[in-house]
Amino acid sequence: SATQDLQGLTVAITAGPTREAIDPVRYISNHSSGKMGFAIAEAFAKRGATVTLISGPVNLSTPNNVERVDVISAQEMAQQAVRFAQQSAIFIGCAAVADYRVEKIAEQKIKKTADNAHLTLKLVKNPDIIATVSNLTENRPFTVGFAAETENVAAYAKSKLQRKNLDLICANDVSEGQVFGSEQNSLQLFWQNGEKILPLTDKSQLATHLVNEIIDLYEKVQ
Ligand code: C5P
Repeated sequence: SATQDLQGLTVAITAGPTREAIDPVRYISNHSSGKMGFAIAEAFAKRGATVTLISGPVNLSTPNNVERVDVISAQEMAQQAVRFAQQSAIFIGCAAVADYRVEKIAEQKIKKTADNAHLTLKLVKNPDIIATVSNLTENRPFTVGFAAETENVAAYAKSKLQRKNLDLICANDVSEGQVFGSEQNSLQLFWQNGEKILPLTDKSQLATHLVNEIIDLYEKVQ
C-alpha cells in the first residue's frame, strides 16, 4: 500500500450526476457515472488523507476510508459541498451538476392529455457549486475543477480556470463520447503558470497521477 504521507490533509470531492425532479416520478439528469470522482477519493484516501465524497446518485461502492455524503439534487449538493469545502484544505469538483432545475416541481404526476401535443417545463439556473467554493472569503480551499469539452479544449478550459477562480482545471475531451461511463480517461491540466497532459489510462491510475499533480501545486502555494 502507498505511504500515508497525506495524513491530516482534508479533501472534499463532488462526484456523479445530480438529479432534478420534474414531478414525483420523473427527473432530469445526465450520464455521469461518478467513476472519476470516486477514483480520486480512493487515491487520496490510500495516502492517508481525510476524504469526504459528496456524491449524486451513482452505482459505485464507497472506497475504503472515505466518508460518503449522498445527495440527489444540485441544491442539496451545493449545501453539503460548501459545508465540507469550508472544512477542507482541497476541494475537487468532479460532479456533473445539472445546469438547470425545474422551477416548480409538480406535486402530482404530470398527466398527458389528448389535446396536449406539447408540454413546456420552465427551468431555472442551479447554483455554480465550484464557483461558490472558490469565491469563499473565509476558509477558501485550494480549488480544482473539471471541464468536459467537445472542441477548443484548451481555450475553454483556460477561460473556465479564470472565470471560476480555480487553482487547477482538468479538461476532458469528450468529442469522441469516450469519457462518460468509460473505464479510461486522459486529462489536460491547466493552472495559472503552466499546463500538463496526463495520458490515457484507466481512471484509477489516472487518479493516482492527478493526486500527485494536485499535491505538487497545492504545496507550492502553502
Ligand atoms: O461550467 P461547467 O459545468 O463546464 O464547469 C464544470 C466544472 O464546474 C466542474 O468542476 C463541475 O463540477 C463544476 N460545476 C459546479 N456546479 C455547477 C456546474 C458546474 O460545481 N452548477
